[in-house]
Amino acid sequence: MNSTAEIVSPIERDVSLPDGRHLTLRLVRSDDENDLFDLYDQLDDDDRHRRFFCAYRPREPFFHGLANRAHGDARLVVALTTASGSRLIAEASYCHLLNGNGELAMVVARRWRGWIGPWLLDALVDLAAVNGVPNLEADVLAENSAMIGTLRARGSVILDHDGYSVLRLMIGTAGPTATWSPGTQPHVPVETPGGRWSHHDDARALGLAVVACPGPSPQHPCPMLNGHRCPLVEDADAIVVRCPPGDAQWTELLAAHRIARNADVVVDDPHADATHVLATVTAIARRHANRRCGPHRRRTDPTQPAPHDTTETRS
Ligand SMILES: CC(C)(COP(=O)(O)OP(=O)(O)OC[C@H]1O[C@@H](n2cnc3c(N)ncnc32)[C@H](O)[C@@H]1OP(=O)(O)O)[C@@H](O)C(=O)NCCC(=O)NCCS
Repeated sequence: MNSTAEIVSPIERDVSLPDGRHLTLRLVRSDDENDLFDLYDQLDDDDRHRRFFCAYRPREPFFHGLANRAHGDARLVVALTTASGSRLIAEASYCHLLNGNGELAMVVARRWRGWIGPWLLDALVDLAAVNGVPNLEADVLAENSAMIGTLRARGSVILDHDGYSVLRLMIGTAGPTATWSPGTQPHVPVETPGGRWSHHDDARALGLAVVACPGPSPQHPCPMLNGHRCPLVEDADAIVVRCPPGDAQWTELLAAHRIARNADVVVDDPHADATHVLATVTAIARRHANRRCGPHRRRTDPTQPAPHDTTETRS
């Protein structure tokens, strides 16, 4: 993303409701500051907790920041116009992250929930894509089913989780799947029901970039099962599939990954020895990453020899 560039916005959408009211989806303007205050002022404690992870009541500087975005950041609002005037009923934004992705946040006024959230997110995803932002990331409370559902319908993957309270989720903007962020760590996508892999932290501590995919859902079927590309699999260095025994769809998913990347697929049986699984995945991933990135790639694990020190980890 060019963070110094002005945001390009082909996004401006008008919807006439059957009762004569009118919705306009557009980029935020500096004169939205008071309306943004009113939108947040209506949030109850649960909503504040989901948006801020506490009962925070932001003050004027927060709304000044929302209405006057920084270069490279983008914010969309939905304005409702009635015979008596106009007000904001939703906002969604991304802020520039150092890895080129955007940090996502959004709020929809309670009485408008049901379809505005997914509609607004679609527009924000389009806006991010045309501005060269490849993925949107968000910390989401595990109890926030509406946000998790909204992102899950767009193929979200789990970047991180702290056990069971907060998930770091990511969606792609240019296709149905997220993509790898720049970096030299070996790429390891993990297919596991629900998307929480018990070895996630251990694998990261070994220097692997791990992205966990919860598998197919009715709202978001896996592209691999429909003969489509998955950039996370294509650019993987090793792939882990934790396949529930006897599940036909997951057996099919495993087969699709093996057809695509046979030797790079490690099956993680729930009863398998964790140390062995991690050692196997790490060895495959490091060997593959050395080929993919070349001998000059940066060392990612200080406990391991640099690629130019030894041929042990090279193919
Ligand atoms: C998160 C939010 C923006 C989603 O917008 P929305 O208009 O409510 O979206 P929806 O009502 O369409 O819900 C999205 C999905 O979650 C599901 N969902 C909604 N509430 C749910 C609940 N309590 N339990 C389970 N699923 C739920 C919906 O069925 C929908 O899934 P579908 O697309 O498969 O039908 C909105 O709920 C909100 O503003 N919440 C408060 C602030 C917040 O949490 N922001 C996100 C911080 S990261």
